This record gives sequence, C-alpha cells and structure tokens, in this order.
Amino acid sequence: MNRLVLALAFIFLCFSASAKELTSKSYKVINPPGNAHRGAKLFEKATCSFCHPCGGNAVNPSKTLYGKNFNKRYPDDQALVKVIRNGIKGTAMQSFAKDKLSDTELTDVIAYIRSLSKNSLK
Ligand code: HEC
Repeated sequence: MNRLVLALAFIFLCFSASAKELTSKSYKVINPPGNAHRGAKLFEKATCSFCHPCGGNAVNPSKTLYGKNFNKRYPDDQALVKVIRNGIKGTAMQSFAKDKLSDTELTDVIAYIRSLSKNSLK
C-alpha cells in the first residue's frame, strides 16, 4: 500500500515537473517501442530516479532527460540504448549491463524517458 502511494506521488510529481519545458518530439522511436508505464517503475527500481528525479539531473542539472536539447543530443532511441549501456566516462553516469536492465526493460525505460518530453508538450 505504501509503495503504491509513493509510486502515485512520484508519477504526479514527474508530470508537474516536466510540464515546465516546451519541446518538440523529433526523434526516432525504437522498434518495437517499450511500455512507458513499466518503464516508470523500472526507472525507480534500477536507481535512475536517485540521480534523475523526475527525469531531471541531481548531479549535473544541465543534463536533464527531457527537453529540446536532450532530444537533439539523442535523435534516435538507439543512441539512448548506447549511453545507458555504456555509461558516460568520467561522470557519475555508470553503465547498466543486462544483469541490471534486460533489453526489454531498457526499451521500457526509454519509452518512459521519451514520455517526459511528450508530456511537456501539453
Ligand atoms: C549515480 C547517479 C546516476 C545514476 C544512478 C544514473 N545516472 Fe544517468 N546520468 C548521471 C549524470 C551525472 C549524467 C550526466 C553526465 C554528463 O555530465 O554528461 C547522466 C546522464 C544520463 C543520460 C544522458 C543525458 C544527457 O542529457 O546527455 C541518460 C540518457 C541517462 N543518464 C539515463 C540514466 C538511466 C536510464 C539510469 C538508470 C538505468 C541512470 N541514468 C542512472 C547520473 C546518474
């Protein structure tokens, strides 16, 4: 029950946070696309939300996971697969191998990350 309340609070907070930024969605979606709802849960489970609360970035605030610049940096979902699998050397962004996120789980997480930019269109 507590977990459910927490999950709902998390989702609510994320919607309100991402609504701040306007952006266009011009990126190539992975095929087959993932499930953003499952992705939201995995985003917490895999500890992403610890450093990226609501898709933001607690360590390097300029590197959010949504917005026009983000989508420009990653115009293809495959580029996100690469950065999450490999991590970013010399930063707190570690690599997430298949023992932490399977291919399907990673696809779901990416669908969730992209949904943050979609929500911000509203
Ligand atoms: C310990 C903290 C930490 C964790 C945990 C973490 N990240 Fe990151 N992540 C970072 C930091 C810091 C950066 C920015 C690195 C830089 O300076 O370029 C980053 C960058 C990224 C980027 C590129 C962002 C951009 O704007 O270029 C993506 C995508 C990303 N993280 C996804 C994830 C996902 C998905 C997870 C969970 C599977 C995750 N991160 C877990 C700290 C973290």
